[in-house]
Amino acid sequence: MCGMIGYIGKKPVVPILLKGLQSLEYRGYDSAGIAYMKDQNVQIMKEVGKVNNLKKHCQHLTATKMGLGHTRWATHGVANQVNAHPQRNSGVTIVHNGIIENYELWKQKLLEKGYQFQSDTDTEVACAVISEAIKQSSTILEGLEIAQTQLEGSYAFGIIVDQDPNHLYAMKQNSPLIVGVCPDGYLIASDIPAVLTNTNEYQILEDGDIAILSEQRVTIYNQGIEQTKNIQTFTEEIDQVTKDGYEHYMRKEIQEQPAIVASLVSEYLGDQQSHWSDLPDLTAYQKIDIVACGSAWHAGMIGKMLIERYAKIPVQCYIASEYRYQPHFLDSNSLVIVISQSGETADTLASLTLAKQQQAKTLAIVNVARSSIARAADQVILTKAGCEIAVATTKAFMAQITILSLLAFKTAKLQGLLSEKEIRQIEEDYKTLPLLLEACIYQGVDQAVVKHLATKEHAFYLGRQIDYALALEGALKLKEISYIHCEAYAAGELKHGTISLIEQETPVICIVTDPAIASKTISNLKEVKARGSYNFLIVTDQLNFESDVYQDKLILPSLNPLLQPMITTIPLQLLAYQVAKERFCDIDQPRNLAKSVTVE
Ligand code: F6R
Repeated sequence: MCGMIGYIGKKPVVPILLKGLQSLEYRGYDSAGIAYMKDQNVQIMKEVGKVNNLKKHCQHLTATKMGLGHTRWATHGVANQVNAHPQRNSGVTIVHNGIIENYELWKQKLLEKGYQFQSDTDTEVACAVISEAIKQSSTILEGLEIAQTQLEGSYAFGIIVDQDPNHLYAMKQNSPLIVGVCPDGYLIASDIPAVLTNTNEYQILEDGDIAILSEQRVTIYNQGIEQTKNIQTFTEEIDQVTKDGYEHYMRKEIQEQPAIVASLVSEYLGDQQSHWSDLPDLTAYQKIDIVACGSAWHAGMIGKMLIERYAKIPVQCYIASEYRYQPHFLDSNSLVIVISQSGETADTLASLTLAKQQQAKTLAIVNVARSSIARAADQVILTKAGCEIAVATTKAFMAQITILSLLAFKTAKLQGLLSEKEIRQIEEDYKTLPLLLEACIYQGVDQAVVKHLATKEHAFYLGRQIDYALALEGALKLKEISYIHCEAYAAGELKHGTISLIEQETPVICIVTDPAIASKTISNLKEVKARGSYNFLIVTDQLNFESDVYQDKLILPSLNPLLQPMITTIPLQLLAYQVAKERFCDIDQPRNLAKSVTVE
């Protein structure tokens, strides 16, 4: 989603803004812009498309003092130059992440007062609301406090007010914002990567905070009271945020998965088993809901099925944007598990807040340690997949399903459902899993299948049970990065209508890893083959099928069902990656997508 950066300090401001914007590119955006001070006046430059387009026009600028930068993911108004940020109206210049929900009401009121608007954005209206509030106040701080009571929705704002060219202002509500602390000044940013070339020290702003930044100091207020904030230090390896010789971040992140799984397994099952007790005792709850979005929701479905199958405890799994608006039956005996890579997904965060309001215990399985979700949950399990840059998740998904698998294993143990021999065997299997993952990545996918898929505009993924959840993930990966329309179907459901779409050569990718229901899925595969489909089978080495049901197949090692999902995930990721590459797609930053979905 949108990314923002602001700087006030002694260094030339434009290179800092451009570097910051480049490090936020992974979030997904469709236009970029900066505002900077020249002779006490605000200058704005904006371009549609990549930050590089913008850079061409402004990298020579030597402005100092302060400025704002933004990458915009269009919400209100198309992606054009006028709607790009920074927005400016009536002496107030803003970059904005989030959505002002009551902007139409304010736009109407302000039009009646004589204000005029150039863009279709909610942000330009926010500029005018703030300007009007400042006019009615004795200080800018007071004006911003009034605006806080007037603007509804979510915002992280970086603000320049013409009448105060010595300060940069920032305010936050429901959208992440940090202050970077540099030796030569201060930064504001929506995400840590944007500040890292200048500093690894930062402060996290909370909802309701207003920050006033000068070259020498930052003062933060909340409801009129000055706040004291700890300075935090970012200690992760910064070189994680490079491609490390790979052509794309996504390919690099696929490659990192065996090491991530190895480190999680050693953390929970290694000699120290230091984190085993961090996995909650699910047997203590009468109701368990898993809530997430996108791939994290697919991980949740896999978690639900593993916990139900191994630990015999019922679990419901919901899409967060639906969960928020449905009746809940939560109380203090309920556990709500939210899963999120970014820890900032608006619907997942809102579901977590709702669960807390209803007295449920909350557990977050999250990748970004300092994220809003990690800070709000009662308990946190970090997936520790490292910084994920490619918009399409791979390694964070792998880490999520590994944690959920360990959680199912622990619960089955607690329920006394596994013999000592089974426990020892499963523990051994977890330890050999990284090697198998590596072998699977090395094996890759058949180029003939890649070439066939790359020429098509429609495809299907089929599977049953956990293989269906994986089919959903495989289809999502293919759609988002290769732009091939792909539907995932529970294999038995296709004939209830959708099979009418199968034509000669329609690609059908079918996942079959569970021997108990394999023959049922194969019957479904025969049904589509009879209608001319091109079948690609992803199957385990234990299962042997007549060659007349498929055109090509990929064989995976057959593992305990607790571990099978991790291995099966690899070819789905590689297939999407190779097909997208064959189609010359922008793999790390697919069109229209954002890494951190901070709007509802
Ligand atoms: C797909 C993908 C998305 C995210 C979803 C949730 O590859 O990455 O579907 O899984 O937007 O994001 P997080 O996990 O950050 O809550």
